[in-house]
Amino acid sequence: MAFRIVVLASGRGSNFQAILDEIEKGNIAAEIVALFSDQADAAALTRAEAHGIPTQVLSKEGFASRRDYDEALAERVAAYQPDLVVLAGWMRLLSGAFLSHFPQRVLNIHPALLPSFPGLHAQRQAVEYGVKVSGCTVHFVDEGMDSGPIIAQRVVPVMPDDDEDTLAARILVEEHKLFPYVVGMFAAGRVHLENGKACIRE
Ligand code: GRF
Repeated sequence: MAFRIVVLASGRGSNFQAILDEIEKGNIAAEIVALFSDQADAAALTRAEAHGIPTQVLSKEGFASRRDYDEALAERVAAYQPDLVVLAGWMRLLSGAFLSHFPQRVLNIHPALLPSFPGLHAQRQAVEYGVKVSGCTVHFVDEGMDSGPIIAQRVVPVMPDDDEDTLAARILVEEHKLFPYVVGMFAAGRVHLENGKACIRE
């Protein structure tokens, strides 16, 4: 049976697209079996539909608590029996009510070199701090904010005249290489987590 991926995306979906492109080229032995969004107008939904991937929108309205939402989301995602859950621009923190259903099987990409600049507007944080390099990080998801074990990172320079947008664009080029690479390695059984530390064995 093919390796099954469920994607969660709140917005544009360019990282989802990058992973899908590599799957369709035959470079990742996996199938994206569903895409979920918490935003009804997410461009990621349109991208998925264009490729015949089932989509579901689960907005936070109608749920009394984060726990209720996370349980409902977990139930719907679990119905697709994923081997891996990929957060590709997913803008909600996930609690144990979701994560406990998919132990060591949820990955996220963050547009900074964690543990620096977690949370929102990571690229703006990097520019404002004045760091000279930044980049992107793919990591296992835990209940914290961008705090799970780091699997892989890529570095880009920060130029003196960068603003949030120019730095974000430079980082995004690397995101679109790094995330498909890590997903492919995970699908091939080459991502390992031991004693709280993650690594890739090629
Ligand atoms: C990316 O910068 C990613 O690192 C962050 O959210 C953004 C999502 O972009 N988590 P896209 O929706 O994949 O285009």
